[in-house]
Amino acid sequence: MKVVLVGYMGCGKSVVARELAKRMGMKSLELDEIIEKKCQMPLTKIFETKGELYFRTLEHEIFKQLLNEEADGIISTGGGTPCYFNNHEFLQQNGIYSIYLKAPVEVLYQRLKKEKTKRPMIAKIHEEDLKEFIAKHLFERSNYYTKAKFTIAIAAKSPAEIVDELLNLLA
Ligand code: S3P
Repeated sequence: MKVVLVGYMGCGKSVVARELAKRMGMKSLELDEIIEKKCQMPLTKIFETKGELYFRTLEHEIFKQLLNEEADGIISTGGGTPCYFNNHEFLQQNGIYSIYLKAPVEVLYQRLKKEKTKRPMIAKIHEEDLKEFIAKHLFERSNYYTKAKFTIAIAAKSPAEIVDELLNLLA
């Protein structure tokens, strides 16, 4: 079984993927981490030195590879993954359990304002403009996220509660 988690930065994809993988006895695969390992540098550096197009191309290739592999796993994507190339089409593939972790703008803003510098897409946005940026960006991207087969509204739920919901959904 392959589970793919999608959603905006800060919605908790990585934490939920790790917890879900533990509970299901499966591997957790984080797309951003695999890209960083391959390039041997952090994402911020990849964006800075190679540019976003290089990152998106690699992201697309690695996402495709992970989905074509035989092994089961919980794949945690980057916030932009479904929005580039034809990546959103993979979310509809047979045998793929794609799930959109849908978070309200306020929750995303509260989380992201504390870790702006680690995230190349928002590093240069001033804090006073961040909430509006997230709202617009999320609106533009929603069309891609909702290509996932299932949606879970995360609001104020803990990772454990989200995982319980996911396990019910996948049962
Ligand atoms: C991005 C989100 C990041 C990472 C990259 C681009 C985006 O992943 O892939 O910085 O375009 O939203 P997270 O959603 O895990 O932060």
